[in-house]
Amino acid sequence: MSSLITETVTEVHHWNETLFSFKTTRDPGLRFANGQFVLIGLPTESRPLLRAYSIASANYEEHLEFFSIKVPNGPLTSRLQHLAPGDEIFVSRKPTGTLIVDDVRSGRNLFLLSTGTGLAPFLSIIRDPDTYERFDKVIVTHGVRTVSELAYADLLARELPEHEFLGDFVRDKLLYYPTVTREPFRNQGRLTDLIETGKLCTDLGLAPLDPARDRAMLCGSTAMLKDLSEMLDARGFVASPNIGAPGDYVIERAFIEK
Ligand code: A2P
Repeated sequence: MSSLITETVTEVHHWNETLFSFKTTRDPGLRFANGQFVLIGLPTESRPLLRAYSIASANYEEHLEFFSIKVPNGPLTSRLQHLAPGDEIFVSRKPTGTLIVDDVRSGRNLFLLSTGTGLAPFLSIIRDPDTYERFDKVIVTHGVRTVSELAYADLLARELPEHEFLGDFVRDKLLYYPTVTREPFRNQGRLTDLIETGKLCTDLGLAPLDPARDRAMLCGSTAMLKDLSEMLDARGFVASPNIGAPGDYVIERAFIEK
């Protein structure tokens, strides 16, 4: 059996000139935990060109969804950005990854800290009722350069709170904190600075970050992960050392150079 499944693109949405997302069919045999990633790709004359992508849809949905940047000279995304409904892509059969809520110790507040396309796995995790069963508050932060990069803002701020099944959980527990660094916006600055100054928690009406109570999942660029994990470590948070071993926080690269 091939390690790749062929799926068909069903929808494509361009958020701006640098970001897009798309949905595909889903092989019923593809099982995954919310927050995991797969390899996706396209055929070439030699072997398929594949890159890791977090699955942005939830594991009970019938489709798959992915959120991507467009890199002008990126080997894969320069082609992927031209996808249209009806096109086929490869998806690997074995999802994996470290951004699993099960690998986060129990606590009161779960901070989902993302920049750029690092938001993707959290879109899956916040559509999982189990996430809300385990935590009192679930905070989704999305740090971007420009307002037009705040993809999924409408889903987070408006659609999910009205969602037929998740709406009660979301209204009660989900806090969305978008922040922009290079344009005026109601929240401004890097997540690292917003945590360092305490502004993130103050703005959300939460007590300062505390490893006794707070948990985190991190997804973004290499630099963002390094800086944020150092900040959490300095505050006494313990990272999950590997899959299956719970910690106060878990971490995954946003797989950005595509
Ligand atoms: P900035 O505009 O100050 O670089 P990128 O598109 O480069 O991945 O950045 C996405 C967002 O993440 C931007 O708002 C960027 O801020 C921010 N960012 C970049 N590096 C870091 C870091 N080391 N820690 C926290 N935020 C970062």
